[in-house]
Amino acid sequence: MNAVIPIKPAAAAQTPAATTMARRLRIKVLRYNPALPAIDAHWQAYEVDDAPGMTLFIALSEIRETQDASLQFDFVCRAGICGSCAMLVNGRPALACRTLTKDLGSEFTLAPLPVFELIGDLSVNTGKWMRGMSERLQAWVHQQDPTIDLGRLEARMEPELADAIYELDRCVECGCCVAACGTARMRPDFVGAVGLNKIARLRLDPRDGRSDDDFYELVGDDDGVFGCMSLLGCHDVCPKQLPLATQIAFIRRKMVALGIS
Ligand code: SF4
Ligand code: F3S
Ligand code: FES
Repeated sequence: MNAVIPIKPAAAAQTPAATTMARRLRIKVLRYNPALPAIDAHWQAYEVDDAPGMTLFIALSEIRETQDASLQFDFVCRAGICGSCAMLVNGRPALACRTLTKDLGSEFTLAPLPVFELIGDLSVNTGKWMRGMSERLQAWVHQQDPTIDLGRLEARMEPELADAIYELDRCVECGCCVAACGTARMRPDFVGAVGLNKIARLRLDPRDGRSDDDFYELVGDDDGVFGCMSLLGCHDVCPKQLPLATQIAFIRRKMVALGIS
């Protein structure tokens, strides 16, 4: 009797469609419009096909164009420069234009940054908060010689110093560090890591005529460096990887040395 040779089922042919099948993303967005207070805050789910190189900016734009024109969110540069697209991605502050969907699960949440005034859905008014903080800290160059037009004549400075200033100048005022900070949530006037970084940057600037004492007086209270509880959320989430923990520690040490603490 002939042995029966089992025949293996042929491997399923890999069709181009099967190999390139897009993941279906389910994006839950926290929605609330302060102009329509009768509608409670609620989660709304949208579905889009994932695509190579897709960012949250692309996904949200697709949703707005094809599914829901009322969805509010902010983007300007799409390149991590303007700082306007920060939001909570699975609860963590991040720039949406620099967040790739491939780095997220097939289901994730988007919510507006806390602390800042809500405009609607994912759009918040970081500009208002930043302006208030900058005014409290007088966070602009106070010229030593006001007769020099800095727009026409830059003072010479050593390349190392210019590099150090440039490093801290990379802040895009996105607000991620503020949203990640427990103190900022409790103290409305806390200047946040972004404000402390501005003071650290101005202190380095040879064009600014203020003394160390002048600078540290601006941040030497509970709305400044003494309000910071070293939670370090700011340092963890800054999309520009600014050395925020180092700057805050530096300001504290200088204040102790100057006897301001
Ligand atoms: Fe954004 Fe970093 Fe600037 Fe904070 S310090 S506002 S996280 S770029
Ligand atoms: Fe906040 Fe950063 Fe200090 S998270 S408490 S500013 S170390
Ligand atoms: Fe400008 Fe994201 S759109 S930083």
